[in-house]
Amino acid sequence: MPTDRELLELAVRLARQAGELVRSGRSRAGDQVDVKSSPTDVVTAMDRASEQLLVAELTRLRPSDGILGEEGAAHTGTTGVRWVLDPIDGTVNYLYGLPWYAVSVAAEVDGSVVAGVVYQPESRELFRAVRGEGAWLGDTRLRCTPGPILGQALVSTGFGYDAVRRADQAVVAAGLLPQVRDLRRLGSAALDLCQLAAGRVDAHYEAGLSYWDYAAGALIASEAGAVVDWLAGTPPAADCLVAAGPELHPALCAVLTGLRAQVKGTRA
Ligand code: IPD
Ligand code: CA
Repeated sequence: MPTDRELLELAVRLARQAGELVRSGRSRAGDQVDVKSSPTDVVTAMDRASEQLLVAELTRLRPSDGILGEEGAAHTGTTGVRWVLDPIDGTVNYLYGLPWYAVSVAAEVDGSVVAGVVYQPESRELFRAVRGEGAWLGDTRLRCTPGPILGQALVSTGFGYDAVRRADQAVVAAGLLPQVRDLRRLGSAALDLCQLAAGRVDAHYEAGLSYWDYAAGALIASEAGAVVDWLAGTPPAADCLVAAGPELHPALCAVLTGLRAQVKGTRA
């Protein structure tokens, strides 16, 4: 069994490789675009190429590991290690030429994430964490802000692709906005969680995220001292992720609960 650090080293190499591929294909991002769960949920040829590269490298280097990827990779492994891949998080930004997109690679051992990397090709910032060993950006150890009070918190969020869910999310955002410093919707949950880790926002919440959106980013945020939890306290499948420093987290959860931010039962 590889050590967690060895898994991290591989995740770093893979995320950089896929990130450079994606960045080099940027001018052709609009050439081949398909839709997935809704007309606004897009997938580019580079999302697929990035996942193919990641899967090919993992299959070559660690053929018996499991893989779960946003664009369809799903292999059951035999080693206890599983890789959770978001080949481009922030695909809409990528398509429009906005720099806010990333490759996210997480390594699980026996069902828990032990290493995570989020690489933003345009800035070349690479966020990384190993469970129990902190979160890092280059040589800088990351620490989230502990507070501040809710009224001074800069909070990031995101919206799903389903129109009905978005309508719910807009109601929640409208209720939260007057109670905080401001809201940000940057367009990549993986990067949002890393901004929290770096103290560049004070919190992130979003209902209905997919596992690949946050697998690496949640480890990075929690290793930077954030509390990363689910509003309803239940397994993640369809709930609202809330991540913030330990002093802010309870107040933010209380307000989000009051605003009924958790995914409604009937929504996909
Ligand atoms: C999306 C981004 C976005 C979040 C959406 C995700 P994608 O992932 O993380 O910030 O609000 O819920 O689906 O589609 O760009 O990989
Ligand atoms: Ca994603």
